[in-house]
Amino acid sequence: MKKILVIGSGGREHAILRTLRRTSTHDAKIHCAPGNAGIAEEFSCLPVNTTDVSALANYVEEAKINLTIVGGEAPLALGLTNEFARRNLLVAAPTREAARLESSKIFAKDFMTRHRIPTARYRAANSVDEVRQILQRGEFGKANAPVVVKADGLAAGKGVVLARSHGEAMRAAADLLKTEISGKSKSIVLEETLAGREASLLLFTDGRDYKLMPAARDHKRIGENDTGANTGGMGAVTDEWVLDEETKNRIAREIVEPTLEGARAEGFEFRGVLYVGLMLTTEGARVLEYNVRFGDPEAQAILVRLQSDLAEVFDAVASRRLNSVSVEWSAEASACVVLAARGYPEQPKMGARIEGLGSVDSSDAGVEVFHAGTERDAEGNWIVAGGRVLNVTGTGATLDEALRRCYRRVGSINWEGMQYRRDIGKFAQASVGVNRNL
Ligand code: AMP
Ligand code: GLY
Repeated sequence: MKKILVIGSGGREHAILRTLRRTSTHDAKIHCAPGNAGIAEEFSCLPVNTTDVSALANYVEEAKINLTIVGGEAPLALGLTNEFARRNLLVAAPTREAARLESSKIFAKDFMTRHRIPTARYRAANSVDEVRQILQRGEFGKANAPVVVKADGLAAGKGVVLARSHGEAMRAAADLLKTEISGKSKSIVLEETLAGREASLLLFTDGRDYKLMPAARDHKRIGENDTGANTGGMGAVTDEWVLDEETKNRIAREIVEPTLEGARAEGFEFRGVLYVGLMLTTEGARVLEYNVRFGDPEAQAILVRLQSDLAEVFDAVASRRLNSVSVEWSAEASACVVLAARGYPEQPKMGARIEGLGSVDSSDAGVEVFHAGTERDAEGNWIVAGGRVLNVTGTGATLDEALRRCYRRVGSINWEGMQYRRDIGKFAQASVGVNRNL
């Protein structure tokens, strides 16, 4: 029997695990490290931290795991794939070198320049003085012009500031450099501000061949109508209008293929899941960022539509034979609504008792609840144990139906201070009319 390990502990990993089980065409034993309390109800969990690369590799060797799947970026930036390859262990994820597409914004921007991949104009800087000089030279317009300031390194979604003026950009740069939000890197990127509609295009790739997933639209801000602080993501949807076929094919030709070819030409073949964050401008699609893994909660919304055996797909990714498998998706729409703790994202409050998790009934057809930050207390009650707590995910013939199903289920769950956005999918739909020609 095949043994599979999924590394991670969030809603994304819960969705990957459930999808592995749901789509499995072979007997498989599925494990998770470290998982969470919800995952532990369904899969065997191993108490190893996602960043303890050698402990993970030891376990995979000892337990004779056949295939490892990695949820988040941290172990990849630490070289988990390199270590697994050294020990001849099969893992469907990019190497440390390939993971620089996410772990260093400067590397990613320079890479895009080298391979003529369309992205916002940018400059790298190492100090506030340098930022001041660049801005004073007028490279990003007049003093009252907006400019985007980004930390170079991994910053868990907190490294991007959309400054409305050069003064604000300088203050943001000073903050980012001072707080060391970007880990060891002491650099930042200044970028021209792009206008348009956003879309996320994810794909499986074995380095050469690739299979696109349904495009997704995420909702980064905590508040409705995209207001308030940035979060890891408060919801995501997939639907036809997110990217029409023609735009998608063009992005495949002009962005996806040059990215994979560029990586090969530079000696770091990219294998795994590639996430291309896009701005659809009037001049065409521009890359905002690469992620070297599934997004959370984009994965939840995307994977509920997968019809093919996910273990086979990942196996084909890892063993470089992606062209030998087919990757099919249901012709539905999907939505994921994130339920977050009081105080998220600044200071999430733990410990509230969650009501309504047990009430799965027939009215829940087409809906799944994935666990992100939950625990069981001594009496067995579900309690809040993280910022993002649960992900209610639904499918439907239309996005409206998927959303209706999600929100009906959301209505049966509650805890003190539970936060969620009531406008998932709405904002994006509204902007479609305005930007139909993009
Ligand atoms: P990133 O982590 O680079 O994707 O940035 C996070 C978010 O900031 C994106 O999803 C966009 O909403 C916004 N953003 C990033 N770069 C730009 C840009 N050059 N112009 C406008 N918005 C941007
Ligand atoms: N939801 C955005 C991300 O996972 O990066």
